[in-house]
Amino acid sequence: MNKLLLGIGMLLILSACDDNKQTADKSDAANNAAQQEITESTPQTSHAPVATDIDTEVVQARAVIKTFAGTLKGELQAGIKAGGAVTALEICNTKAPQIAEKVATEAGMQVSRVSLKNRNPDNAPNAWQKAVLEDFEIQQAAGADPATLEFSEIVEHDGSKEFRFMKAIPTGGVCLACHGESLAKEVRETITTLYPDDSATGFTLGDIRGSFVVTKRLH
Ligand code: HEC
Repeated sequence: MNKLLLGIGMLLILSACDDNKQTADKSDAANNAAQQEITESTPQTSHAPVATDIDTEVVQARAVIKTFAGTLKGELQAGIKAGGAVTALEICNTKAPQIAEKVATEAGMQVSRVSLKNRNPDNAPNAWQKAVLEDFEIQQAAGADPATLEFSEIVEHDGSKEFRFMKAIPTGGVCLACHGESLAKEVRETITTLYPDDSATGFTLGDIRGSFVVTKRLH
């Protein structure tokens, strides 16, 4: 149990780091919603400067997420294999903040995760993120593979441009131990204690668990 608490403590530290970004985002939620109206659509012509900008940023954002997600998933799988969900929590969440911070800093981008059914209240989406998540759900209901769902835009923000990118996170088999329909007693109890408002269970294979969010202030 101590190990599990330590692991979840790490999670809280991780989310505390994320808080700064999230809080900044949320305080801007109203602005963001307003700014969606002046969102620049992505021109399809390759010679337009904005198209060049957004294409470059999208490639970089995908790489940041791939590194973060790939490493995180690898750690999760190794942890579960070694000692179950409790060990996975500890291993994964010791390394997750380091990985996230490293890849994000290198790319000059902010990285976070959000969900319509979040476990940590800090991972609740702001206005524009919620709209994108809802659109992902609509696209999946219409038959789209969640693994392919992405969103990108560049908006005017405080007199400069902000790049925004989201990529849907499908629920894999390894996720069900902590997000599925039936959790082990110890896992459920600990999660309930630490996240009394948890709504991140009941997922099944292939559901959209949430989304990665990458933002970057462009100069
Ligand atoms: C060992 C337990 C465990 C496993 C396995 C696990 N998660 Fe989580 N997950 C958590 C916890 C705990 C949080 C809350 C983290 C925090 O406090 O920020 C979380 C948070 C998240 C979030 C952020 C949104 C939210 O609900 O707060 C996403 C997205 C997510 N998990 C996706 C996944 C995916 C996808 C997988 C499988 C690849 C997975 N998780 C596997 C325990 C787990």
